[in-house]
Amino acid sequence: MGLPEPSPEARTHSDRVVAHVAEAIAAQGWLPFADYMGAVLYAPGLGYYTAGARKFGAAGDFVTAPEISPLFGRALAAQLGQILDSLPDTEVIELGPGTGRLAGDMLSALAERDSFPVHYRLLEVSPDLRERQREHLKERVPELLPRVEWIDVLPQRWRGAIVANEVLDAIPAHLVVRRAGEWFERGVALDREGRLAFVDRPLAAGPLLDAARERFPAVGDYVSEINPAAQALVTSLARRCQDGALLLIDYGFTAREYYHAQRSAGTLIGHYRHRVLNDPFFLPGLTDLTAHVDFSAVAHAGAAGGMSVAGYTTQARFLLNCGILDGLAACGDPQSSAYLREAVAVQKLLSPAEMGELFKVLALVRGLDVELIGFRDGDQTHRL
Ligand SMILES: C[S@@+](CC[C@H](N)C(=O)[O-])C[C@H]1O[C@@H](n2cnc3c(N)ncnc32)[C@H](O)[C@@H]1O
Repeated sequence: MGLPEPSPEARTHSDRVVAHVAEAIAAQGWLPFADYMGAVLYAPGLGYYTAGARKFGAAGDFVTAPEISPLFGRALAAQLGQILDSLPDTEVIELGPGTGRLAGDMLSALAERDSFPVHYRLLEVSPDLRERQREHLKERVPELLPRVEWIDVLPQRWRGAIVANEVLDAIPAHLVVRRAGEWFERGVALDREGRLAFVDRPLAAGPLLDAARERFPAVGDYVSEINPAAQALVTSLARRCQDGALLLIDYGFTAREYYHAQRSAGTLIGHYRHRVLNDPFFLPGLTDLTAHVDFSAVAHAGAAGGMSVAGYTTQARFLLNCGILDGLAACGDPQSSAYLREAVAVQKLLSPAEMGELFKVLALVRGLDVELIGFRDGDQTHRL
């Protein structure tokens, strides 16, 4: 199939993940897809994010914006700086901080502009990533380390800013199917050969069916994701916000685009060694699984928790508004290799053919009365 072979140890690990899923199937008979995705990504010591898979960067499976260029973090820090200037003595919390690069870039840029948060908290579920983040920050911003804290759970109350880059797409989604006018939930069971396979079950009345009925196009066979857990997370973050801003960056669309009649197979994909896969059963535990984000649903979820939308735009617009080109200009001589390297990276972050248009930034606020700089030009809140 032309995909890089995993090492024997990695394959053994994946076999263990499959055995874990098979056990859950034996106990329950069938797993909703969200439970399968939750297990292969987050089962303690086994899942893609909770065991030692390489994940990020050239030797991993995918590349995220902070890994592409430090100018991404610098631009975001300009937005955070504005928020922290309006809400002094508050904190920044980063959800799912990956390798810690975004934290390092934002911390050093915030320190330069003297709008430093009281604490910078990293909420990380993976022990392996926590260690990597600590190592990275020790090297990148040793003098700021005393201000950095790792947390296990969301604080009961927060003031300041929360940043989540590519977190919502990694939250386990349910798959709903409409076939010949009948509704099903797509789940996972074992086929006759004992392999993991999709099995659809009739979908009973309830919130999942209500959500699908409301969002799916009026007619036609259709499969897509509904993500109550992502919405619940945002509502919970919003409820706990005393005053501040929640910045959510991810690939995704408004509900109208997400549940477009032509997107009839949904957005679920796997990432393995920089290949995009449509088979969610390929090397479980070694392959990242992800679904795009329905930003309309996320905005509603924020409103349910008492926050309102302060901006929604493309990543390209947001980064330009936050001065990413000034950051590039500060990289020195335009003929230098350092400058050229950053210019290529910035092009990747901004280009409509790469990350510029598919990725969006949504800002939810409570008790913050400023026009956020990231949305000054090209705000698309009206489309949500
Ligand atoms: C695709 S990675 C993105 C990492 C990093 N933000 C970046 O941009 O490179 C997704 C991260 O979200 C984390 N995550 C998933 N669910 C989460 C939750 N409920 N709260 C916090 N982090 C979560 C995962 O553990 C993982 O580290």
